Amino acid sequence: MSSLAQKRILLGVTGGIAAYKACELTRRLRDAGAEVRVVMTRAATEFVTPLTFQALSGQPVRGTLFDPEAEAGMDHIALARWADAILVAPATADFLARLAHGRADDLLTTLCLASEAPLCVAPAMNRAMWAHPATRANADTLCARGVHLLGPGEGSQACGETGEGRMLETPELLAGLEALFAGGSLAGLHVLVTAGPTREPLDPVRYLSNRSSGKMGYAVARAAREAGARVTLVTGPTALAPPEGIECIPVETAAEMHEVVLSRSAQVQVFIAAAAVADYRAAAVSTHKIKKSAGHLQLGLERNPDILAAVAALADRPFTVGFAAETRDLERNARTKLMKKGLDLIAANDVSGGRGFDADDNALALLWPGGGTKLPRQPKEQLARQLVRVISERLRADQGSKFKVQRGCNP
Ligand code: C5P
Repeated sequence: MSSLAQKRILLGVTGGIAAYKACELTRRLRDAGAEVRVVMTRAATEFVTPLTFQALSGQPVRGTLFDPEAEAGMDHIALARWADAILVAPATADFLARLAHGRADDLLTTLCLASEAPLCVAPAMNRAMWAHPATRANADTLCARGVHLLGPGEGSQACGETGEGRMLETPELLAGLEALFAGGSLAGLHVLVTAGPTREPLDPVRYLSNRSSGKMGYAVARAAREAGARVTLVTGPTALAPPEGIECIPVETAAEMHEVVLSRSAQVQVFIAAAAVADYRAAAVSTHKIKKSAGHLQLGLERNPDILAAVAALADRPFTVGFAAETRDLERNARTKLMKKGLDLIAANDVSGGRGFDADDNALALLWPGGGTKLPRQPKEQLARQLVRVISERLRADQGSKFKVQRGCNP
């Protein structure tokens, strides 16, 4: 069964010759079990009549923002909320420009702004228009904002030229849309996660450690697995059972974790450092149990390597995600850490008053260069799924800017 079964797809059609292909797309979406509502721009109606889409979708077609009849039934906000995903195919250069600038000057752009559903666009235009720096910049902006760019493809164009700018064919568009719902946002990727505390021995029976339970890191590893990734979990000592379907590498000290992580990071595309790594270790580990004496005991400590910063500094690094446990100035401290360690994303949590550690629920502020979002307090399992969703979105946005739009940032 297609992952599009029973999904509500809002299909936006803008004014390009490829609008005729959106008719076939509407049929195939319905064949896949999706409910489809079509919104056309005025220019789109110059190419195909609304009646065609009405017959194919089995639903009235919307075109204008100010439609008294529609606003009495499903108004534009209700329509924006109704959609599980929006697909704009074809998306003209003008539409991409308006979307990139946050315009809401017709029904379709308004819906794109008002909806929180994933947004896919399938550009279709003459190759010179697609190659124009203005269009490139708009596509980059959209990618960076998490819009899924489907295509364009290469080949002969309706204008008689050949090059990049063709709208993807219907099966490719369906596959792109299906990937959104397949629960496989990290499919094909290898994710490395660290979790739990580290233990820094002082002597044969004592160690320095912290209150990390490993619950968040394990939940993140499971959520990445659920999202289709191959996962390797490097874990400090915890009371948790190794999660199923995940390669688990137990370590004890920060130095061991550092060694394992660095030996694996070249093979992974995403690194998520959820471990509470001890910042210091004993400068000298006593070979015998330290005896108590009447006076003070002084321990000499030295810095542990910063595993996260070391991975972030690699020339060909994976998408690198850190955690920041803070007791005050949460976002300011976390953003400083994000920049200082050169991370792609940081998940900050407030641990003042013992919150966060060893609890079953948590709240996170997610920050990345130039943006951020908040995940409200909820069970760690659920929180981890949301974190993974944001990571996969940021990863695509990052690919968009790193590799530019020639490579696309398709799901
Ligand atoms: O600098 P701070 O310890 O607050 O940074 C926390 C983040 O850095 C966490 O993601 C943690 O896993 C990681 N970290 C690390 N190696 C260290 C210290 C922290 O990977 N030695």
